[in-house]
Parts: sequence; structure tokens; C-alpha cells
Amino acid sequence: MFDQELFTRVRADFPILKQTVNGHPLTFLDSGASSQQPECVIEAVANFTRTGYANIHRGLYSLSELSTRRYEEARRTVAEFIGTDDSPTVIFTRNSTESINMVAYTWGEQNIQEGDSIALPVMEHHSDLVPWQQLALRKKALLRWIEILPDGSLDLDSLDKALSYSPKLLAFAWVSNVFGTINPVQEIVRRARAHGPITIVLDGAQGVPHLYTDVKKLDVDFLAFSGHKMLAPTGIGVLWGRRKLLESMPAFLFGGSMISIVKRERSSWDVLPNRFEAGTPNITGAIGLAAACDYINSIGRDKIREHDQALMQYAIDKLNDLEGAQVLGPLDITQRAGALSFYFRGLHPHDIATLLGREGVCVRAGHHCCQPLMREIGMMGTTRMSFQVYNNFADIDRLCQALLKAGEVFKSAVCSPECAGRKLKVMVQTGHHQLWPTCCANAACPSSKCSSCDVAPANRALGNTMDSCAPMFNTPIIDLKTKKKP
Ligand SMILES: Cc1ncc(COP(=O)(O)O)c(C=O)c1O
Repeated sequence: MFDQELFTRVRADFPILKQTVNGHPLTFLDSGASSQQPECVIEAVANFTRTGYANIHRGLYSLSELSTRRYEEARRTVAEFIGTDDSPTVIFTRNSTESINMVAYTWGEQNIQEGDSIALPVMEHHSDLVPWQQLALRKKALLRWIEILPDGSLDLDSLDKALSYSPKLLAFAWVSNVFGTINPVQEIVRRARAHGPITIVLDGAQGVPHLYTDVKKLDVDFLAFSGHKMLAPTGIGVLWGRRKLLESMPAFLFGGSMISIVKRERSSWDVLPNRFEAGTPNITGAIGLAAACDYINSIGRDKIREHDQALMQYAIDKLNDLEGAQVLGPLDITQRAGALSFYFRGLHPHDIATLLGREGVCVRAGHHCCQPLMREIGMMGTTRMSFQVYNNFADIDRLCQALLKAGEVFKSAVCSPECAGRKLKVMVQTGHHQLWPTCCANAACPSSKCSSCDVAPANRALGNTMDSCAPMFNTPIIDLKTKKKP
């Protein structure tokens, strides 16, 4: 059961949440972008900076030795957090993006050849899509897309189809940053391995912060994640990989700290993890990440999951009760974690986020670095709230109140209620990649004029350009209540 008392204490650990914005309490619902940090993480970094800071690995004086020890202790803490006792297989990077690029530029360059297939879901964040797309372009390889079902979950038949091309690589997100969908990692991995030899990269950017992580159980080959989404500072991320694979891979970045012997013409590389950590790493970031792992463990990962599910259910129920709101993604909370995107009365997500921001409610709006997914669902953007351990039901109540207020602001801009209703109907019928239909000629009506660029959206082709904000008003192509594509 959700332990309210525990999470009231947890919330008090986050000093930033004591702030107000325009007289409103800060309601931080954008942890999927970057989470806030508890006092103990802030203090661990500050204390290390005050008392233990020096460059690592090369100094022979005690402060440097202490700093090296603390850095390697941090690596062991993170390794334990993800279920491995082989800490050199934990490579510190800047973030998930760098971790994924590291695999693309090392394993990918070495193993992907012309004509090979790379399988990935259409729901991927650009960070787990563009590196593979670019690798495919460099190597003349083929991308095999895994589609989504109308409820925002992964289409396992489409996975099987993609696997029938015997891809050398499968990359996918554990949790979608748009829908919050938890992809069934073990089932996906089982199907993938049943098809033959394959290397599997798991983008854990949204998964590791919310779900119990054990790389042995996940059975993937690489796991990427970012500290700044799991209560740690920015600038620190992780690539975990199977030792055998990491040892067989060429180096990524070259320079100091990663070498064994350097001669005028040639060099050789150090052992793990140094081989993949060229230059001075983010030492303080690693200390902060380890402190965040300790903090998460101190709360208990099962308790964090219960808390996340309680918030998710509450938010789904609240939004379902709001006229004109629609939750995107699976409605079953056991299939969701962390993030919840929604649609509200045809309003532009940027308008919603701006108005919510004035009420102290921080949410994210836009394509969430998932443009192919947005095209798939016929929207150019969504509004997304995302949770962390410090959120509570009152945060969701404040979001809903602010939403209603935003709805009132825009109501006055619609020429008539029938007009707004008609517009939505037309949108559903036309779907995406169509011309924006104008339902009336009234210049004050948002359907005949785009609120942010002042250009009549009727003149624009939907879905072709990202600078057109007209498609933002579109209704979702996936109706999650009926689970049908209109
Ligand atoms: C699913 C997913 N993958 C990758 C990333 C990239 O993370 P980072 O910006 O920390 O590299 C994000 C960031 O939002 C994400 O949500």
C-alpha cells in the first residue's frame, strides 16, 4: 500500500519545493525531463567539493587518492543499484544520449555492415533513434520499425515481423517518455533471442528512475540511463554493458586516462572502465549519482513503485473526470511508469504549459523528442506530466485546477461552442497528414487562425513541417477510450 506518511517526509527532503511561483506553491511535474535533488545529494556533492575534491587516477598525494577511492566507490554503488557486482562494466558518461552513441560508434561501427537490419520501435526518443538512423546511413543498413498499438503499447506482432529480418541489433526504451508505457522487456528479449543471435540495447532513461533494475534479469546487452532523471545532478549518466562485449569493442573517445601505452605511431587501450572514460570524468556527478542511488534505496524501490502507481491512477481518474481531457497511453497503471501525456480540449500544448506555468505548475509540452511517434498518432505534440518521489495528490489537483483555468481563457477565444465542437469532429474524421479544415471564417476563432504564428493553418499541410503549430490542435488519432483509430 502507498505509504503517505513516508512520502510526506520524502517531499520535505527537496528544498526547491519550498519555493512559490507567482504566489502559488511550486508544483513540479516535469521530472521526466530532469528531476529535483534531495538535500542529501546536494550535500554529498557539496561536501565532496569542500573536503575531498581532486582529479582522480593520476595524483600520488592523499587527496587525489581519496578522490579516486570515492569515485570508484560511487561506481560500485551504481553497479549494485543495477544488479551487477562487476563494477568496471559500469561506464560513466554524460547522459543516456552519450551512452547510446557510445554503443553506436563502437559496437555499431564494428558489427553493422551493409544490408544488415536494426530493429527499433517508432515510439523511441530521438536519443535512441537518431544514433541508429545515422549508423544505418553510414553503413547502408536498414531500419526495421516496430509499430505501436492504439493504446500506446508496443505491437508484439510488429516486433516479430521486425525480428523476422534477423536484425543484428534491437534497441528500445524500457519506458516511453511520452506515454509512460512500460515495455515488457523480458518478453521482448525472449522473442528477440529466440530468433537468433542479436545484440539488445535498452534505453533506461525513463525506466531506471522508476523501476527495480537488475541487468541479470533484464537480460539485455547494454543499458543506458541518466542521473538527472533519478534525483542526481546533470552531466552524469551510465552505460552498462556485458563485459565480453565491452572488452571486444573499440574505444570511443581518445585521449588521456583511456590509454595503456602511447607510442609515436600507435597506442593501446586501458582495461575497463578506463578505456571508455577518456579525459577527466564528471567526478562530482558520480558522487551525486551514488548519493541518489543510496537515497532511492533508503526509501525502497517497491515503495517508490507503489507511490508512482498511486499517483498515476489518481491522475488518470482526475483527467477522465475533466470534460475534454484525454489520457494517452495505456490506462492500466501496471503498464505505466513516471509519465502521463494528455490532450485537452483542442488546446495547443504550449498554451497549456505556459498557462499552467503561471500557476506554478511545471509540465512539458511539445513532441518530447519523439517526432516519428507524434506523426504516428497524428499529433504534433502533447502535454505531459511526470512524477517523482516528491509528488503528491495535491500536485495533480493543482494541475487540474490550472487546466480548467486555461480552458476558461481559451473558451472566450472560440466564436461559439458549436464551432469548437464541429472543429473537433472534423479533425477526428480527417486524421493526420491532411489539410487543416476551417470550420468558420470568424477571425477570432482559433480554428481559422493559429494562436502562435498568426498564419491561417488552412494554408499548411499538416505533418510536413515542425514549424506549423496548427497540428498541435489536432485531436489524438488514437482514441484510448474506445481503443480505436478513427
Ligand atoms: C526515453 C528517453 N531516452 C533518452 C533520453 C535522453 O536522455 P538524456 O537527455 O539524459 O541523454 C530521454 C530524455 O528525456 C528519454 O526520455
